[in-house]
Amino acid sequence: MKLHRVLQSQGFGSRKGCIARVRAGAVAVNGVVCDDPDAEVDPDGLELTLDGVTWPYREKAYVLMHKPAGYECSHHPSHHPSVFALLPPELVVRGLQCVGRLDQDTTGLLLFSDDGQFIHRMISPKKGVAKVYCAVCAEPVSDATLDALRAGVRLSDEPAPIAALACARLDAHTLRLTLAEGKYHQVRRMVAAAGNHVDRLHREAVGDFALPADLPPGAWRWLDAGDLKRLEQPWRSATS
Ligand code: URA
Repeated sequence: MKLHRVLQSQGFGSRKGCIARVRAGAVAVNGVVCDDPDAEVDPDGLELTLDGVTWPYREKAYVLMHKPAGYECSHHPSHHPSVFALLPPELVVRGLQCVGRLDQDTTGLLLFSDDGQFIHRMISPKKGVAKVYCAVCAEPVSDATLDALRAGVRLSDEPAPIAALACARLDAHTLRLTLAEGKYHQVRRMVAAAGNHVDRLHREAVGDFALPADLPPGAWRWLDAGDLKRLEQPWRSATS
């Protein structure tokens, strides 16, 4: 693959821009400066260095973020800054998308990728990848609310009641809710339909992958092969 094409695929700019950066001597391939944009490079194990930053080549990008409150999961936010503003521009240019959305005031585990098939597998209800939320509620969580969430609640635009895969009271006002899908405002609407109100919402985990405790709000990191395997793990009730 030609060097300028590799650079473009990784989000380093337009074809013209990538060619210019290589010609200017600003790109190192596996640690050695290369000023020929048409040089053939092997993407396997390739490391590119630009502006002093080294980027391993990735055919597809898989990223997680600890989403802070006050950010919208949209490239065109209306009232708040975009979560994409928290990522390096290279990742945005190469076309990363949110893997499902979180509301602007929801915090926690948010995934991004440019792999359409991966995104589909993660959000399709048929794949059964669980999303685990911690919801702080306005009123004490009653047994009736827990029973309703487990049995299934009616949401206005849904043909059938929707039940949580699992539901537990963590303290008087806090619920842990595990869902198989990610419909619009689903947790807030389900809790409202069960007679309470969500004041604060945080996504703790997707599949068997929990938000790393050492990742501060607003920070991101790459997902590795082990992370991806845990993410795609279908929900099993014994481990919930
Ligand atoms: N359910 C909600 O209501 N909001 C979110 O952000 C995620 C799930």
